[in-house]
Amino acid sequence: MPLLTRDNEGLARDYDALSADRQFKSGKQLVQALALQPGDHVLDVGCGTGRLAEFMAEHVGPSGHVLGIDPLPLRINLAQARSRDGLSFRVGDAYALDDLPDGAFDVVCLNAVFHWLPEKSGPLRQFARILRPGGRLGISTGLKGHPNPVREAAAVVLARPPFAEHPRGEAADHRVDLDEMRRLLGDAGFKVALLETRLSARVFPTPDEVLRYAEASSFGNLFGHLPDRLRPAARAAIGEALAALATPEGIPTSTCRIVTVAIKP
Ligand SMILES: C[S@@+](CC[C@H](N)C(=O)[O-])C[C@H]1O[C@@H](n2cnc3c(N)ncnc32)[C@H](O)[C@@H]1O
Repeated sequence: MPLLTRDNEGLARDYDALSADRQFKSGKQLVQALALQPGDHVLDVGCGTGRLAEFMAEHVGPSGHVLGIDPLPLRINLAQARSRDGLSFRVGDAYALDDLPDGAFDVVCLNAVFHWLPEKSGPLRQFARILRPGGRLGISTGLKGHPNPVREAAAVVLARPPFAEHPRGEAADHRVDLDEMRRLLGDAGFKVALLETRLSARVFPTPDEVLRYAEASSFGNLFGHLPDRLRPAARAAIGEALAALATPEGIPTSTCRIVTVAIKP
């Protein structure tokens, strides 16, 4: 289970810069699928440093509002620099939405967040509660089972001594497949309007670039379970494993994500 205590200022700043080329791009596609309207009230759950919330605020205009929440205070600090009329941020958690009124939002959005939630039914029921009838839930999230070179390299390295003496415990992230997503949405009372997978490929110039991106995106959970003294060696070993995958262009990676829009009846 991901820990929310492993973030630091460097990771938060890296995320803000490095996500511009990845999560922000997929987030814009999710926003397009959600067909935001002027005047919409939007909740961005797990907003990170607020890039996508800022983009959504432009779509909903001065009569709308976007609220971004995230449990990581350092990311919310960076997001708050983007605040303005119609766009606000606060520390918050998908498991603690009780203070938000019933039917208060037209849209709830989770971009690159759903796979970090170990238990999904409780948050989905809350999203249904805070959406108005006809409101839209948009989720873009990693697909279970799609091969990922960083996770695979990390799994091999971390299974070796001395790293294996410090078990990671439960899986760091919690991906679902299309059938699981359909069932979860149906059980929470949503009607599925869009449910598909999208593949995107990217080549990183060096192993260090792959690792910086992976560490920032996982808010320190890639090898954050290791004692400080072992982390440099783990990072170097994962980097070596990634270097072995390099082509003349760099290190190829691909992600496959589920994109879904579901309607509260
Ligand atoms: C890869 S980032 C995505 C950030 C942002 N949505 C974006 O598109 O750039 C994943 C985010 O999920 C957030 N997250 C993890 N657990 C969460 C929870 N229980 N509730 C809300 N957000 C959570 C993390 O704090 C992190 O900022």
